[in-house]
Amino acid sequence: MAKPPKRLPEDRGLNLSPPNLKSMRQRLGVNIDHVATIRNARGGGFPDPVRAAKLAAQAGADGITAHLREDRRHISDDDIERLSREIDLPLNLEMAATDEMLQIALKHRPHAACIVPEKREERTTEGGIDAAGQQERLAPFVKALGDAGIRVSLFIESDSKQLEAAARLGAPVVELHTGAYCDSTGAQRDEHLRSIESAARFGASIGLEIHAGHGLTYETVAAIAAIPQIRELNIGHFLVGEAIFVGLDASVRQMRVLMDETRLARSASG
Ligand code: PXP
Repeated sequence: MAKPPKRLPEDRGLNLSPPNLKSMRQRLGVNIDHVATIRNARGGGFPDPVRAAKLAAQAGADGITAHLREDRRHISDDDIERLSREIDLPLNLEMAATDEMLQIALKHRPHAACIVPEKREERTTEGGIDAAGQQERLAPFVKALGDAGIRVSLFIESDSKQLEAAARLGAPVVELHTGAYCDSTGAQRDEHLRSIESAARFGASIGLEIHAGHGLTYETVAAIAAIPQIRELNIGHFLVGEAIFVGLDASVRQMRVLMDETRLARSASG
């Protein structure tokens, strides 16, 4: 029998009203997909993403994120099996809305499932899911996951239509795509940041828990960590890349410090 999903403190009734929200620590979900990418370059078992997840936990991660892609290019079914069994942190399973992925999620019952769009030919998740345009298709997935006690999140662009659709679908969480913000510079980056800030405000005002992620680095994280409504960041590629130079423990710790310093400065300023 599958274990019951792991619970976070706020799921157990912690006060999430805005004054508390502001001072609360932002969670860091460490995505370990690209440890598996390196392993798969040679086959075999090294480096082991489960070992990376355990190290990330010691370094201050609040959760582990893994994307089981349809083509299994990084995380494998066995990784999900082992992560579900062996790690103590909540697992956030990123998944496409397909029957195959739904069955896998229902078997393992991770703490959370983040529904992402998936195209075979893309190098990484290129955009958010069209919750507004695919409401009917997504509804049974959101319901089945929610009924199994899995906290459902929809990975969306910072667009009020998508936020409203997520709320209508009954998803408790959205994750805002930060890829365009991270990939741009100057005035364009500022514009993307404004959109993320207003989406976070609007989403929280209609009752959604707000997460964010994709492409975040030491350079881009502070502006996103400063947005008070954002409760969780999911970060992977940069942390695993930086780990090549400084080790995973140090890369996760440094990201944690940058997030905590930003939140602290924000709560001290008002
Ligand atoms: N959040 C979601 C929904 C994602 O699909 C990804 C990439 O798998 C991430 C966060 C992490 O992005 P990155 O690896 O660029 O930090």
